[in-house]
Amino acid sequence: MKLFIDTANLEELEQSLQRGFVKGVTTNPSILSKEQRGDFRLHINQLIRLLQKYDYNVPLSVEVFTTQPEEMILQAQQFVEEFGHYSNLYIKVPIGWNELTVIAKLRRRDIKVNCTCCMSYNQAIMAVQAGANFVSLFWGRIRDIGYDAASIVRQVHQTLREWQSPCEIIVGSIRHIADINEALQAGADIITVPPKFFPQMCAHPKTDEAVHQFVTDFRNWQGEAQLNSLRPAA
Ligand code: E4P
Repeated sequence: MKLFIDTANLEELEQSLQRGFVKGVTTNPSILSKEQRGDFRLHINQLIRLLQKYDYNVPLSVEVFTTQPEEMILQAQQFVEEFGHYSNLYIKVPIGWNELTVIAKLRRRDIKVNCTCCMSYNQAIMAVQAGANFVSLFWGRIRDIGYDAASIVRQVHQTLREWQSPCEIIVGSIRHIADINEALQAGADIITVPPKFFPQMCAHPKTDEAVHQFVTDFRNWQGEAQLNSLRPAA
């Protein structure tokens, strides 16, 4: 199981990189649109510099921003030229009949692909067959229309296992912490999580209670004078 971070925000990314658990980064055009307007290529290169600053060489997904397959190929090629110095670059291509030609072409050129916006079993297995390295299933959006995201993830996972496919399932569109647990149990290899959930994932009121009790008991036992002698010199 791996946790990716679903953000293009430099501050949020840095906070998480400092904590060592990030195994990948996913962006999309909407996520980028939340950042200050400017040249998006500079922004992606800033994300890359941050990853390098902390010695990370984890998958970084950058999505095409057109619906035209020919343009997708051109954009993907440009991404490789602009960001290809980062060796773990993945081009995000949405699933679709015409989009499969993009996936197949990029894979033939040995460009790594994250096939995104998958909402069904059929879409995911078509992406896998076309050669995608990652298939991204959108948990929250699948549930929005009343489908059972867990059973879709479970079926895709089972099929990939039967095929012994190297393709990995990313579950995105996470709306609640419970989605993360359920998606993992359903067989997701990777969950890409909006950064606001990470601090919550480390917190529990009983942990706060226990830590507070330990510190208080120790303080009461040692007394203030003794504690001062234990404090590190400033
Ligand atoms: C995944 O790679 C996507 O960036 C993301 O999780 C999309 O989800 P949302 O637009 O439903 O939040």
